[in-house]
Amino acid sequence: MIFTQNAINTRKKLVADALSPALSDQDIVLVYAGSPIQKPGGHDQTYTFLPHPDYFWLTGSRRPFGVSAFSKKDGWIDFVLPISRDEKIWEGGNEQVIPGEDIKNFDGWLAKRTAAKTYLIGQFDLHRHLSKVAEEERMKVQELFNQVRRVKDHEEVKLIQNIALMANEGYKKIRNIIRPGLTERQIQIEYEAEVLRAGSEKFPYDSIMGTGTNSAVLHAIPTSRILKDGEHLLVDAGADVHDYCVDITRNFAVNGTFSSRQKMIYDLVLKAQEASIALCRPGVDWKDVHLASARVMAQGLVDLNVLKISAEEALDTNAIAVFFPHGVGHMVGLRVRDVGGPYNPNPKKYAGARLRVDMPLREGHLMTVEPGLYFIPALLDDEMTRNDFKDAINWSEVEKWKDFGGIRIEDDILVTKNGPENLTAVVEK
Ligand code: GLY
Ligand code: MN
Ligand code: MN
Repeated sequence: MIFTQNAINTRKKLVADALSPALSDQDIVLVYAGSPIQKPGGHDQTYTFLPHPDYFWLTGSRRPFGVSAFSKKDGWIDFVLPISRDEKIWEGGNEQVIPGEDIKNFDGWLAKRTAAKTYLIGQFDLHRHLSKVAEEERMKVQELFNQVRRVKDHEEVKLIQNIALMANEGYKKIRNIIRPGLTERQIQIEYEAEVLRAGSEKFPYDSIMGTGTNSAVLHAIPTSRILKDGEHLLVDAGADVHDYCVDITRNFAVNGTFSSRQKMIYDLVLKAQEASIALCRPGVDWKDVHLASARVMAQGLVDLNVLKISAEEALDTNAIAVFFPHGVGHMVGLRVRDVGGPYNPNPKKYAGARLRVDMPLREGHLMTVEPGLYFIPALLDDEMTRNDFKDAINWSEVEKWKDFGGIRIEDDILVTKNGPENLTAVVEK
C-alpha cells in the first residue's frame, strides 16, 4: 500500500477525535469511495476509476464501492469490495484490498442500526437518501473532516517531494531540447514521456504549454504552433502518483535567453511570488498572500507606465485583475484542487480575483503560489474592460504589450512552523 498502516491509523484517529464532539452516541458517519463512471454511450466502458479523495486519504484503498463507517461506539468499520472472478480474468486481480467486511453486508449492517443521524462524506450521491440531515448540517461535519485532511502528514509530504523529482525530469528535458522550430505539441510529448519514464502514473491536469499570445491563455492546450526565435514558452505541467501530484509553472526562452522585456516581466512575477511565499506561515490569511502578489505586480505596472493610478488604487478598483485575473493559488496535493473551502457558496473577490481558498493558513497546508502577469488580447480588447478602466490604464502603452503573452511562476509551498517550505524547489526557475 502507498501509505503505512500507521499513517492510516493516525488519520482515522484524528478524524474520530475531530468529529466525535459533533456526534451523538447513535450518529454514524459514512465515507464513500464512489463507483466507476460509465462513458456516455460506452456500454460496459467506464472512465478509469478514481476513488474519492476523502476515502482514499482515509483508507489508502483505491477500490470502488468501499465505505468506511464511523460511530463513537464502534469506531471505524471498513466495508470493501473483494476481487471478483471477472477481475482476476480480465485485469489480473492484483489490486490490493484492505481488511474489512464484504460490502455486500453493508446494507444489512446499516438496517440493523438505529442511527439518529447519518452523515455522508465522499462520493455518496447514490446514497443521499440515507442522510437524515440537512446539507448545511452535513457540511459542518464535512468541514471538521476537511480540517484534518488539509494538514499534510509526513508520508504525504515525502510522496509529493518524490513526485516533484519526476516532474523535474520533464522540465530538464524541455530545457535541453527547446529551440525555434519545435511545436508546443512536440514539447508536450517530450515532457510527458520523460515524466512517465521517471515514475509518474498519469498527469494531474492537461499539461498547459503556450508560446506567443498562447502563453496568455490561462489553461492553454498545446497546439501545432511553432516556437519562434525571441518568444517564450509558458509550461504549467505536473506529475501524478495515485492522485497525489505537483502543480508547477515555468517559463523558457525559446532561443535560450530572455529578451529584456521578458526578463523585466519575469523578474516582476518572481518578486511577486517571493513576496507571497514569504507570507505562507501559520495564521496568515490566504487573501493577504494574494494581495501581496497583486501589490507587487501593480507597482511594476505603474513603473512601466501601463497603470495611471497608484498600486493601491489598482487593487481597490480591481484594475490589477486585467493583468492578474486569477487567484494566487489553491490547495494542492491529493488532486490538483485539494480540499479547499471553508464551504462558501458565494466566494468573495479580492482585487478582482475569486479565490478558491479564503481562510487562515495552518501548519501542514500545502498551497500553490502562482502569480502571473498577462496581456490577454481578449480581455484588453473587451469593451467592458475599456470602459471600466478608461482612466486607470494607459491604453496606448498597453498596445505595445499586446503580443507579449503572459508569464506565470508556480510552486507548491508547505506551511510549516519554521516558515514556508517549497516542495517543488528542485525545478529550476
Ligand atoms: N495547473 C492549473 C493551475 O495551476 O491551477
Ligand atoms: Mn498550474
Ligand atoms: Mn495551480
